[in-house]
Order: sequence, then C-alpha cells, then structure tokens
Amino acid sequence: MEKQEDNNARLAIMELANMISVPMSLNAVVRLNVADAIWQKGSNTPLLPSEILSSILPSGTGDPENLQRILRMLTSYGVFNEHISLVEPAQRRYSLTEIGKTLVTDKNGLSYGPYVLQHHQEELMKAWSVVHEAVVDSSTEPFVKANDGETAYGIYGKKPEMNELMQKAMSGVSVPFMKGVLENYDGFNGVERLVDVGGSAGDCLRMIIEKYDNIKDGVNFDLPEVVAKAPKIDGVTHVGGDMFNSIPKGDAIFMKWVLTTWTDEEVKRIMINCFKAIPVGGKLIACEPVLPNHTDDSHRTRALLEGDIFVMTIYRAKGKHRTEEEYHQLGKSAGFKSYRAIYIDYFYTILEFTK
Ligand SMILES: C[S@@+](CC[C@H](N)C(=O)[O-])C[C@H]1O[C@@H](n2cnc3c(N)ncnc32)[C@H](O)[C@@H]1O
Repeated sequence: MEKQEDNNARLAIMELANMISVPMSLNAVVRLNVADAIWQKGSNTPLLPSEILSSILPSGTGDPENLQRILRMLTSYGVFNEHISLVEPAQRRYSLTEIGKTLVTDKNGLSYGPYVLQHHQEELMKAWSVVHEAVVDSSTEPFVKANDGETAYGIYGKKPEMNELMQKAMSGVSVPFMKGVLENYDGFNGVERLVDVGGSAGDCLRMIIEKYDNIKDGVNFDLPEVVAKAPKIDGVTHVGGDMFNSIPKGDAIFMKWVLTTWTDEEVKRIMINCFKAIPVGGKLIACEPVLPNHTDDSHRTRALLEGDIFVMTIYRAKGKHRTEEEYHQLGKSAGFKSYRAIYIDYFYTILEFTK
C-alpha cells in the first residue's frame, strides 16, 4: 500500500514538473489557429492532424506528427476529443470539446485565444522564471525585475501590438461574462450616466447600454493610450485619464477586473475616487475574481488561485485575488455604507458597494 502511495506521489510530481507543456502547447494551438481550422463554420468534424495542417499551412509544409503529439496531450486536458479509427492502420482524428470551442473566433472576431496569447508574450514569460523573487523581495514585481524596470502597463503603453492584444484578450473574456450579468443582474436600472473605470475597448459598457435604454450617457474611462485605440461606440464617450488621480462623475460606476491588480492601499485609493465620483445612494458595481475561503482542487478554485499568482508575478507583487470579506472591508474603509456580493459567474463575482 505504502509503495503504491509512493508511486502515485512520484507520478504526481512528474506531472507537475512537466506542466509547462500544457500552457505552452495551448499557446501553440492558438498561434496555429487550430480551433478555427477544426470548427469550419460549425462542422467540428474530426480531422487528421495532416488535414488540420493543410488548412493552417496551405503551403503544404509542416509536421503532422508533431501537431498530433500536441493535440493528443491537450486531449488529456479536455481541449480536444480524440477519435481513433478501428481499421488498420489506426489513425487519430481530433474535434473540439466545449473547452476547445472557447478558442473558436466568433462573428465579432472574439474568442479566448487572444487571452491565451496575451499571457504567453515574451515579456510576460521572462517574469515566470523569477516568481520566487516576489517572496524574497515583494517591493518589485517579477515582471519589472525581468524587464529592466518596466511595469506591464508601462510596456503595453509603449508597444502598440501588446496594447492591442490586451484589448482583444479583455474583450474575448468579458463579452461572454457580460451576457450572464445582463441576464441575471438588474443593478443598472435607473442609472442615467454610467462610468466604466478601466473599461478597455468599451465592450462591457456597449453591452450594458444596449440593454438599458435608461443609460443616456456612457463614459469609458481608461489610460489615454488605451482609449485612443478604442472603437467608436454610440452613446459612449471615451475618456483618457488615471483613476488614481480622479474619475469622471456618474450616477454609478462599473468596474471589471481592475481592483485585482492593485495593492490594498491602491484599491482603497481607487475606491475613494469612485466614492467621490458618485452621489449619495449611488453604486460602485465591481466585478472581480473572488477567492473562496476553502482550498480544493476544483476548476474554479484552481483558476482563481492561478490567476492570483499571475497578478503577483506580472502586475503587482502585492496585488491579489481577494476574498469577499477582504473586499467588504476595503469598501468600508473607502466610505461605502452598504455592500452585497452577487454570484452569477464562476470566475467573477459582482461586488455592489452603495454610498
Ligand atoms: C484587466 S483589464 C480589464 C479591462 C476591462 N474592464 C475588462 O474587464 O474587459 C484592466 C484595465 O485597467 C486599465 N488601467 C490600468 N491602470 C489604469 C489607470 N491608472 N487608470 C485607468 N485605467 C487603468 C487598463 O488599461 C485595463 O484596460
């Protein structure tokens, strides 16, 4: 018995030690656009790696065996279905699972693909080899140490291709989330002027005002270089600025995936600026990843804990995914008098603070 446990432990550590193959192979299939090649406008017919290859590399070049090795490994992580033919010689064909389908580009050009690519850019990858530095000295982020003193947002601002990928990544993840929010949450009723702080390309705001015609005025507030690239949206004014200085006034403030990347002190400053920007009775509606109190091996807990390490490594060594209670206390310290949390999505929680 002991021997079997020992064996399992050695197997588990081998799996963990080789784990880098998983995200990097996922990145490879996104770079190669494998999901769209299999999806073929909805057919999702199981294809041989050579057939996928001839669609993604029409020049007829490439190595189908190596593509198959990647697809087979990712099958084990639920991204692809593998179909083995019964007739000899046995051939392996691949179709997309529900997870694989999140990588298919939709009619608006969106998918989770850009989010995968965004995480695996060279500048971010360099930071992962020095994660331990966040423990040794948390005054500087691993990203900053690995990139000659530059912060992630600083580099996005200087490199248009990184800025663009960031916006595309945010849109690909945020649009499906917002569909669920708009079906199940009614907190935008009665709001006439809504400010989205850190709204990126403005997708969340566009979707909110499409549903709520009481919102006459939408303000998409983000860094100047980000709003400069944001598309024109009817009913939305793009405003560039710094949320640490001041936030445009509105009846309510929406904010998604912004507080997470900052320290407690910085979150308090952002929340105080939100507090100043809304009237008494106005709401700050923040959607953030919220950590469960218990630790387990569910997809939800893992996605949230992994995201927490991403924040620590890339954005702020003391930025973090927080528990509901930690957000509650931060809201209180910024002056908000009431608070409720609404669980609609598995990853993001709606945190509603009222002035
Ligand atoms: C993780 S993204 C979230 C984008 C969008 N809310 C969403 O969920 O799709 C964080 C956003 O905060 C913006 N941001 C970072 N620092 C900022 C600042 N000082 N003032 C305003 N926006 C900022 C970034 O440019 C980025 O668009």
